[in-house]
Amino acid sequence: MATTNGYFTRSIADTDPTVADALTAEVGRQSNQIELIASENLVSRAVMDALGHIITNKTLEGYPGNRFHGGGENVDTIEQLAIDRARELFQCGYANVQPHSGTQANLAAFLRLVSPGDRLLSLDLAAGGHLSHGARANLSGRWFETHHYTVGRETGLIDYDEVQRQAEQVRPHLLIAGGSAYPREIDFKRMGEIARSVDAKFLADMAHIAGLVAGGVHPSPIPHADIVTCTTTKTLRGPRGGVILARDEAWSKKLQSAVFPGAQGSLHTQVLAGKAVCLGEALQPEFKAYARQIQANARVLARMLAEHAIKVISGGTDTHIVLLDLTATGLNGQQAQELLAQANITSNKNPIPFDSPKPAEWVGLRLGVSAATTRGFMEAEFEVLGALIGQLIAAQSKGDAQGAVEGAKTRVASLCQQFPIYS
Ligand SMILES: Cc1ncc(COP(=O)(O)O)c(C=O)c1O
Repeated sequence: MATTNGYFTRSIADTDPTVADALTAEVGRQSNQIELIASENLVSRAVMDALGHIITNKTLEGYPGNRFHGGGENVDTIEQLAIDRARELFQCGYANVQPHSGTQANLAAFLRLVSPGDRLLSLDLAAGGHLSHGARANLSGRWFETHHYTVGRETGLIDYDEVQRQAEQVRPHLLIAGGSAYPREIDFKRMGEIARSVDAKFLADMAHIAGLVAGGVHPSPIPHADIVTCTTTKTLRGPRGGVILARDEAWSKKLQSAVFPGAQGSLHTQVLAGKAVCLGEALQPEFKAYARQIQANARVLARMLAEHAIKVISGGTDTHIVLLDLTATGLNGQQAQELLAQANITSNKNPIPFDSPKPAEWVGLRLGVSAATTRGFMEAEFEVLGALIGQLIAAQSKGDAQGAVEGAKTRVASLCQQFPIYS
């Protein structure tokens, strides 16, 4: 039955028009909206070729040369390539490219670094931390006793002296650096020194900034951390998935078994192929130029918004992220997200430091420039975009944004046309 009726040949448009229509609509959405969600990017056609490949049919457990199933020779080639490329890109001795996500990479790291009941010290969620760093809603918050450091109320910056003080007080078993909405450079060297001074292990989660580290515009955590985790999804411009890295091979045996069988089962073979491709792309000289452009674009966006009287947390950015405090505009994050969406600009509401724990009350908006930079936007386009967003928010805070929305929509449409994707 399965091999008849065009099972191997008919397209999704023929066999499942409902799903096909939603997929086609998504192509339209991505083509016609400017993506400013900081955790998103646009993967290359080559990465998509890998993700849609029949290699997805292959089930494998274990590691190259040591599998639990036969027929793994091609996946071995791909996984070994991905490992070698990750080690070259991040200049480290150990890489595990199997984690299905950033959260699972962290889970595997926890399995080796801490035991249930141990103390974690990580960046507060409202200050830009991540759920998988000990938030109560996450299993890391159930299994470990979490303490948080935060940022200065006025500066929006991590105060490393304060982290040192807290580390001496809390005596964490594990210090975690990294987050989802911290726009500034992280001093991984200092964090490593703090961890060692209190006999804690040090995990650096560079999920958001991996592409910036790879491109040489953010210092690497590799020399300073016991274990480094990241996603391939965000600034690294690859498929959805995680990676674990370590400076040298000392952790290798423990981390191999932490990922499989510790935290995961079989490989996502098609994602592994996509990771190999994206890591290969990140090794090309063009990727360094891309990372530099991300940083330049984000700085322009932050400057333009500040010029439109919108408060930028920490006064600027060193990364792809611009975090806005909308308090003075009278809008909350949800309202601003919806306002920008009307003009086909996609963003997300976010807490700002010391914000309400309730998402409906958050007064922050997080913007990220990685996807639009992939699309080809340069400083000039981000000047336009920053002005459009500033005008939209100013008009809405005066109570009538209709004209601004119409104007912005037209400008966004012409920018999208000028910088097409996946043509
Ligand atoms: C710092 C950080 N760590 C981990 C993750 C989790 O990654 P994933 O969504 O792949 O589980 C994210 C995702 O945004 C993140 O920002």
